[in-house]
Amino acid sequence: MRKLENKVAVVTGGSSGIGRAIAMAFAREGAIVVVLDLHHASVSAVVEEIVSEGNNAWGQVCDVGHAQEVREVMTRIFAEVGEIDIMVNNAGIMDDFMPAADVDMQQWHHVLNVDLHGTFYCCHETLPGMLEREKGVILNISSVGGLQGARAGAAYTAAKHAVVGLTKNIAFMYANKGIRCNAIAPGGVKTNIGDHMHPNALGYERAVSGSATMPPLANPEEIAQAALFLVSDDASFVNGEVLVADGGWTAY
Ligand SMILES: NC(=O)c1ccc[n+]([C@@H]2O[C@H](COP(=O)([O-])OP(=O)(O)OC[C@H]3O[C@@H](n4cnc5c(N)ncnc54)[C@H](O)[C@@H]3O)[C@@H](O)[C@H]2O)c1
Repeated sequence: MRKLENKVAVVTGGSSGIGRAIAMAFAREGAIVVVLDLHHASVSAVVEEIVSEGNNAWGQVCDVGHAQEVREVMTRIFAEVGEIDIMVNNAGIMDDFMPAADVDMQQWHHVLNVDLHGTFYCCHETLPGMLEREKGVILNISSVGGLQGARAGAAYTAAKHAVVGLTKNIAFMYANKGIRCNAIAPGGVKTNIGDHMHPNALGYERAVSGSATMPPLANPEEIAQAALFLVSDDASFVNGEVLVADGGWTAY
């Protein structure tokens, strides 16, 4: 028996990097994976890849930073795929390492909107169904930047810290209702997240001053294996936890 047989698992930002690796790994363990991301072509590509391996997937364009869009997409998922067993809030963007004084207000709101509000909107829309069935797992992708002060700029650091708080709050509030909520705090992972970055000089200099202790970057599949553990019944008593997957970086 595969670990996630017939579970409906939604993965936001599921068409690239860590999200794509999670989608592929969950599908291989029997989940019906719902891939949500910004662009139709990349969503379809991951869905096709999963299906080509003989597994199940469904895709939908969704900007998690829009509450109404998230609500509509979740309603479509309930109707066309089924009740959601596993919600992985992975969609995220970086912030050009902007220290607080230099943060552009538009960027502040954009980063908070995707990294924090998007995570909250998806939790908000999936929890009622989970509460009704007294069953469900939420996994939020935070970052070592959600635990330490200078792995990114002010907006990303604030958003990812808030994701940790949201994770623990949901975990405790619904601990008697059959729902678990955990987070992963990855260190450096080989993905596209930095592709369009224009790093702020001061912010970057301050942030990389600690990078001499950084281990080699992980492959996204290594984070996906941690995700698989946390959403599976193997982690049935793990709730409100932040699993640091950083190759030992923060152990220094
Ligand atoms: N790569 C790293 O080193 C690293 C480290 C720690 C945490 N993380 C976190 O891991 C998560 C995944 O990042 P990644 O490294 O795989 O990056 P990535 O850029 O490869 O993938 C992120 C995905 O999220 C999607 N996305 C962005 N905004 C969205 C929105 N508004 N709605 C829906 N989808 C949206 C992107 O289109 C993309 O497909 C992020 O939350 C990121 O903060 C990454």
